[in-house]
Amino acid sequence: MKTIQFFDTTLRDGEQTPGVNFNTKEKVQIAKQLEKWGIDTIEAGFPIASMGDFEAVKAIAEHAENMTVAGLARCQKADIDRAHEALQNAKHPQIHVFLATSPVHMEFKLKMTPDEVIASIKEHVSYARSKFEKVQFSPEDATRTEKRFLLKAVQTAIDAGATIINVPDTVGYSNPTEYGALFKFLIDNIQSDQEIIFSSHCHDDLGMATANALAAIENGARRVEGTVNGIGERAGNTALEEIALALHIRKDFYKAQSNIRLNETKRTSDLVSRLSGVAVPRNKAIIGANAYAHESGIHQDGVLKNPDTYEIITPSLVGVNENSLPLGKLSGRHAFATKMVALGYQLADDELKDAFKRFKSLADKKKQVTEEDLIALMVGQAQECNEDYRLERVQLQYVSDGSQGAIVSINTGENESKTESAIGSGSIQAIYNSIDKIFVQKPALQEYYIKAITGGEDAQAEVHVTLADSENNKQFNGIGIDFDVLQASAKAYVKASEQFQKEVGKA
Ligand code: KIV
Ligand code: ZN
Repeated sequence: MKTIQFFDTTLRDGEQTPGVNFNTKEKVQIAKQLEKWGIDTIEAGFPIASMGDFEAVKAIAEHAENMTVAGLARCQKADIDRAHEALQNAKHPQIHVFLATSPVHMEFKLKMTPDEVIASIKEHVSYARSKFEKVQFSPEDATRTEKRFLLKAVQTAIDAGATIINVPDTVGYSNPTEYGALFKFLIDNIQSDQEIIFSSHCHDDLGMATANALAAIENGARRVEGTVNGIGERAGNTALEEIALALHIRKDFYKAQSNIRLNETKRTSDLVSRLSGVAVPRNKAIIGANAYAHESGIHQDGVLKNPDTYEIITPSLVGVNENSLPLGKLSGRHAFATKMVALGYQLADDELKDAFKRFKSLADKKKQVTEEDLIALMVGQAQECNEDYRLERVQLQYVSDGSQGAIVSINTGENESKTESAIGSGSIQAIYNSIDKIFVQKPALQEYYIKAITGGEDAQAEVHVTLADSENNKQFNGIGIDFDVLQASAKAYVKASEQFQKEVGKA
């Protein structure tokens, strides 16, 4: 059985999702979970793009143990140097160099002739190879590139030292028959005395990203690129959890395996959804809330008689609803610490102390604290450590004309606190108007929804907020988790406002 390598680009292509902006601590947290999930290579960022990207790639390089850490670079020496600098402490570094090869990209975006593109690939892949053992090259927009020219670009990269060739379907234009044939064509026609790994990279504009990646695997790709929950530019990327499960459930057909630990799938998906603020649709394959729900009577009857009738994946295979003993308010520090280790959190003494305090306060309100509650608690803790602005107090008042009044205080850093009050036609609107006054902003509230983290009347609330800046057509996500819905709503709005301020306003 061949092994398919998994290349995760949640922190690079995934972060290109409108409204998604991870901070360094969140990126490290995701990277650690990806390593636990079994990802072979993580694309940690695009180091030259910003100081934040550089710092995040550097931090992830320092934390990753077995996982290869890759940085993205255009065909420019400064990009390659910056990636090299960010990855210098990585145990297993890799560079990912790309240059567009399709006629439309060469003519209108790059303003380069085909010969200039080939010369640039040769020069920059050689330069990258002088600094890195592992060099990956991507001919951007490969699927709209003239085939013979694509082969020439790929062969040039191989001759210059690339050993991994990624074939991006940048605009999600291809289909499984065509994309599979493209891999076969390239693999059959390149010349190399070294082993060359071919990799798929698909976007989901026509809803074919997973099918295309699987077609590539059928035709010789040994690596698949994608993101958790399929987040990414426009319609997103191949959802890696779908590939992992397809290879596992249909190993009879694909005759391939991966290093993915399937029972970490749900946890990985939940973490990315929370930190990105991008909800997983209920009907999403593998990790959607309805993926294991049987509604019709005939189906329910069948499953009760034998789950095989309608269930090809058992929920526990991907870590959904695994039986686990919840903690309660009488659980001690030792039981809490043991549970955190089992959940994959290696906490320093002061972090454990803080987490335990939060757990106790939650357990006072909630009878049973489940694993999902604990993971949410850690997400909240990580977010607060990184916040410049912290919600301090929310107070509500009923105003006699039927509207609501709110007084909100926010710590704006260095122990400076700002308080404002406003009215609104409901509690949430009053809170949000007060926060807008503090930030001196007027964003559009594009999306707001609440989800219960667990079942039961005493579930914690997770609120997602998306703010939009109509002038720049940009979005900013924030989530807030709290036992109290209004408090969670305020936290989510503060978090989204913090992103909004960084890009648009000045508080
Ligand atoms: O979609 C794409 O072409 C990319 C490249 C940078 C690989 O993300
Ligand atoms: Zn992409």
